[in-house]
Amino acid sequence: MKVGLIGTGLMGKPIAQKLLESKYELNVFNRTKSKTDSLIKLGAKSFTGIREFVAETDIIILMLSNYDAIVEVLFASNIRNFENKTIIQMSTIAPTESIDLHKRITKLRGEYFEAPVLGSIPQIINSELIVLIGSSEKQFTKCENIFKSFSNKIIYLGEVGKASAMKLALNQLIISETVAFSMSLGFVIENNIDVNIFMEILRSSALYAATFDKKLPNYLNRNFDNPNFPVKHLLKDLDLILNSFAEKNINTDSLKSIRKILIDSIQKGNADKDYSALYNSVHPI
Ligand SMILES: NC(=O)c1ccc[n+]([C@@H]2O[C@H](COP(=O)([O-])OP(=O)(O)OC[C@H]3O[C@@H](n4cnc5c(N)ncnc54)[C@H](OP(=O)(O)O)[C@@H]3O)[C@@H](O)[C@H]2O)c1
Repeated sequence: MKVGLIGTGLMGKPIAQKLLESKYELNVFNRTKSKTDSLIKLGAKSFTGIREFVAETDIIILMLSNYDAIVEVLFASNIRNFENKTIIQMSTIAPTESIDLHKRITKLRGEYFEAPVLGSIPQIINSELIVLIGSSEKQFTKCENIFKSFSNKIIYLGEVGKASAMKLALNQLIISETVAFSMSLGFVIENNIDVNIFMEILRSSALYAATFDKKLPNYLNRNFDNPNFPVKHLLKDLDLILNSFAEKNINTDSLKSIRKILIDSIQKGNADKDYSALYNSVHPI
């Protein structure tokens, strides 16, 4: 089975590297061709046309920005037949979008399942990415080994849609915890209280989340360069969450306020900075 990956961005490139390290013969496709150069040096085969890529690939991993990018890449070139192809969708998209892709690919005689992930570049490098699977059990069994190249936690959740829903539930926590911590940290600093004491209390309490310590240096130095996960993708996820949660009658009023903070952060030029940059909008200099 020939494996291929579409989308060699922040996440796609290290995943491709891990697949190559695991001795998969890998096909890659990316809109901006220069982003596959380092992978070609490691042995990947890069394609300029999506039709040629699909023709030569059996298992196609998608790691693209969003649903629109997936539709553009897969369907704009009028590929009419995905027979004997399995599409594994790993980007963060809405459950309804994933179910829609499942229908479209199945109609074109291909197989589709979803495998969104929790974790970022360091977790890929350390093979600690958490992979959430929404598929048939047969599809999962067929492809499980592929995920083992970059994950030691592969969690089967049931049919397509469930893993995308789980991913949004988890990302809602990333968004809300980041804003909640930024507010309290800013308040502590403005009251001239020692941040170390604040952190000691937090660490010994039930309120603590590891992400607080992970991002603390960014907040204190107000340095948000070299992002693993940029503000623009957090806003994309927030909009997916707002729609998907509302469909299930979950009150999202708190997130609507957080959205204003993210828009402010993007207007201040932080779209491509690490998502912790929203601290500057919660606690401006
Ligand atoms: N970064 C993280 O820590 C993280 C963690 C978990 C999940 N995710 C999710 O994983 C997905 C990928 O994230 P990422 O951080 O790797 O994003 P990224 O660095 O922005 O990469 C996005 C990829 O999508 C491609 N793309 C975007 N629009 C396109 C279009 N219209 N046509 C063709 N290709 C298009 C880009 O191609 P070009 O190179 O040509 O722009 C690039 O390969 C997102 O859904 C994100 O929410 C990210």
